[in-house]
Amino acid sequence: MERTFIMIKPDGVQRGLVGEIISRLEKRGLRLVGMKMMHLSREFATKHYAVHKGKPFFAGLLDYITRGPVVAMVWEGTNAIEIARRTMGATNPADAEPGTIRADYALEIGRNLIHGSDGAETAATEIALWFSEEEILSYERSIDPWIYE
Ligand code: RTP
Ligand code: MG
Repeated sequence: MERTFIMIKPDGVQRGLVGEIISRLEKRGLRLVGMKMMHLSREFATKHYAVHKGKPFFAGLLDYITRGPVVAMVWEGTNAIEIARRTMGATNPADAEPGTIRADYALEIGRNLIHGSDGAETAATEIALWFSEEEILSYERSIDPWIYE
């Protein structure tokens, strides 16, 4: 089982897409094991997006991500990191495949609705940054044998 960190960005919350986005990840078969809302400080957002510090879009990214509350989540499942990224679609919604969240609900790279960890190391770092151990639950669903072989 792999874990990934997913965040519904402020545009997703404002546009009333929280349920729709969660529903897509749930239907895919991933299991929600942690969830909370936060309104990020610039300091916290800088930590989360540290890898983009110094890039031309960084200031705009911080304005965007701190503009309203976000929904932070941990999802678990086989190959969860890659599966979530594919369900989200390409960073720029204009390049995202139809049927992905970003293609179906977004238009611009700077308003792309959702964040997902891009690798195992990033997932571990991000989960540790956003969640304490007690905030992540371990449980089984009765339908799991119909999703996992
Ligand atoms: P994320 O980290 O949010 O899941 O997105 P990502 O991996 O698909 O893309 P990444 O390269 O990590 O970029 C992080 C976020 O910064 C904004 N961005 N804007 N204007 C631009 O050229 C630009 N490039 C990136 C996007 O909101 C992107 O999701
Ligand atoms: Mg990224």
